Parts: sequence; C-alpha cells; structure tokens
Amino acid sequence: MDQQIYIFDTTLRDGEQVPGCKLNTKEKLGLALQLEALGVDIIEAGFPISSPGDFESVQAISKVIKNATVCGLTRAVQKDIEVAAQALKYAVRPRIHTGIGTSDFHIKAKFNTSQEVILERAIQAVKWARNFTDDVEFFAEDAGRTDNEYLARIVEGVIHAGATVVNIPDTTGYCLPYQYGEKIAYLMNNVPNIDKAILSCHCHNDLGLATANSISGVINGARQIECTINGLGERAGNTSLEEVVMIIQQHKHLGLYTNIKTQMLNPLSREVSDIMRMPVQPNKAIVGANAFSHSSGIHQDGFLKDAQTYEIINPEQVGAEGSKIVLTARSGRSALAYRFQKLGYDFDRNDIDQLYQSFLIIADSKKEVVESDLRILAEAYVPEKAIA
Ligand code: KIV
Ligand code: ZN
Repeated sequence: MDQQIYIFDTTLRDGEQVPGCKLNTKEKLGLALQLEALGVDIIEAGFPISSPGDFESVQAISKVIKNATVCGLTRAVQKDIEVAAQALKYAVRPRIHTGIGTSDFHIKAKFNTSQEVILERAIQAVKWARNFTDDVEFFAEDAGRTDNEYLARIVEGVIHAGATVVNIPDTTGYCLPYQYGEKIAYLMNNVPNIDKAILSCHCHNDLGLATANSISGVINGARQIECTINGLGERAGNTSLEEVVMIIQQHKHLGLYTNIKTQMLNPLSREVSDIMRMPVQPNKAIVGANAFSHSSGIHQDGFLKDAQTYEIINPEQVGAEGSKIVLTARSGRSALAYRFQKLGYDFDRNDIDQLYQSFLIIADSKKEVVESDLRILAEAYVPEKAIA
C-alpha cells in the first residue's frame, strides 16, 4: 500500500523570516486558510515567543484552522515552550516544534558546551513540551552536519522523552542527496525506538539541492517534508512545496502520496508572491511563468503533434493557465501556423512559407513576436499566388 508523506508547510514561519516578507496577522490568517484548503497536513504558523505580533498570529490561526495541525516553533527553552503552548491553546490539533543545534559548529561556537549537555537539554525540552500537548516535534538543528552516531543518540533520546516527530534539518543546505538519504537510512536502521516516531526532512537550498535532498529523505524512510510555497525561506530558501508534491505525484513507482490539491498550486503561488512581494523566477518549476511555455521550433513542432513530447505535467493539473507557444526567432513554421490559426487566420502551407520569411525579420529584431505583430503581418500579406 502507498505511504502518505505528510506535508508540513512553513511558509508562515521559515518563509516569513525572509527580509521583506513579513506578514501581519490578517494576512497570515488568510494564507493559513488557503494552506488548509490546499490540503497541507501541518501549518507552522510562527514562532510565538519571537514577538507579540507572531504570538497573536499563531493564536488567531489556532482558532480558525479545523483540519490541519497548527504548529508553533520554540527553542529548547522552558519559557518559549510555555508561550507556544499558550498561543496554541485554541488549536484543534496543536503541535509544539522545539529543538536545539546538534552539530559541533552549534555545540561549540553557539553554546560553548558539550554533546552530553545538548542531549540533556533536548530531552528536557521534549518532556516539558509534552506537558502541553501529545504532539511534539523535535528539531536537531544543523543535523545535516551532525555526526550520525551522535544524531542517532539524540533521536533515540527525544523519542524516549515523548517526541512524535523528529526533524532532521539540513539547516545550511550542505548535504548532497545521497548523503542526506544515507543519514535518514542510518537513523531508520540504528535508532532502536524509531518505530515510535516519524522522521521529517527540512532542507535548505543553499546549493540548490533542497528538493532533491527531501526526496532522497523520503525514499530512505522519512515520512514528513517541511517546505514552503515558492521555496521561500532563509537565505536561498527551503524546499519548494510544489516541487516535492509534483515529484511524488509524477513518480508513482515510489509508492508515496500526499493529500495536496494540486490544482491550487499555481493560484496559491501567485497569491503568496503578491502578498509577500517576492516575485517568482520565470523558469521556476511548476509555478514559473515559463513552466509551460515552448519557444524553440523543434519543441513547438513536437508539442503541437503531442503535448507529451515536451510536457510531463498537464498545466491544468497544477492550476496553470495552459501551455503557451511563444514566438521568437527560434520558432518554426508549425508554431507560426498555430498562432495565426488561434487569431482566426486561415493560411495554407504555402502562405505560411511566405509569411515565415517576414516573421523572421521581425523576430530577429525583438525578443518576442506578439499578437499585434502577427496581425500586422497578416494584414500586410499578399499571397504570391494571388499576384500571379
Ligand atoms: O533550518 C532549520 O534548522 C530550522 C529549524 C528551526 C527547524 O528552520
Ligand atoms: Zn529552516
């Protein structure tokens, strides 16, 4: 039977940390409702102790979200956990997400302490959080650069203390996909109580590998992916929700599925981009403006014969406007004929051959030949056969 991958959306927490992306409570609430409609399993609504505004947002979201789990982030600090619990008080399904840095970089440079002290703090934080909810997720910050043997001791300890989900963040986006996958496999095989919790992937995109690492993680046994709409997040961002969801949907042989309503992906991407004032790069997978555009003659010809020659996803499946045949100096006759036809002109093959020469002159002089250019071409066209 196929296994569910839980989608943990952190657009409102890791995504909102991006400079310029800050949202007020009303905006966060509106997005939270959309995320719930999209079908995400967990909404990380904020970091309640970080500011009164974030506390208010987490509380407001907790009051309205009925199906998804609402999660609040904390450090492994009692006060943080208490404040998060208060903010989550009204949630139908509250989750506290607590944790601490586990790599030597964090243990030495940030905390100036030892592995044993960090292990103990991790355990105490989870125990404290369990006083407020049964759903406690622990994050081992910088797990990507944490020695696997020590990480396994941490994971075992926090599960024993009551963690139901253990997050293995590649905080700095350092790992290669095979390394991240091996890390998850190591934990699956070497933590004695691993059956009592699920592992979560939280990958950053510093080397452009966040999506690949998350997929490698679930192939090796993780069952939750932490991600954001449009891949927003600290520095180069987080794993992009739309990418992992569509990879899982496209590669059915993985035996995995999510509950995401994929038709909402493009509309929600645009909404997040607008509200956070963060444009989406045109060549972004799934939601970029060019994700379903075809501009070279070879591709256009194949696409017009059978869309599947150059498209693995039907744009409707992800709520995109539709495939586009863009006319540039690299386009061919089939594309030109298709676009004329769409404008209502009925040209035969001989007409297109003649029009194509004038088209190329315009196309070489500009980046894209647009509808008005085509109309001018069509109106000015005098068929040679007519002259003869
Ligand atoms: O990247 C990270 O390690 C985080 C944790 C707070 C989960 O965002
Ligand atoms: Zn992060």
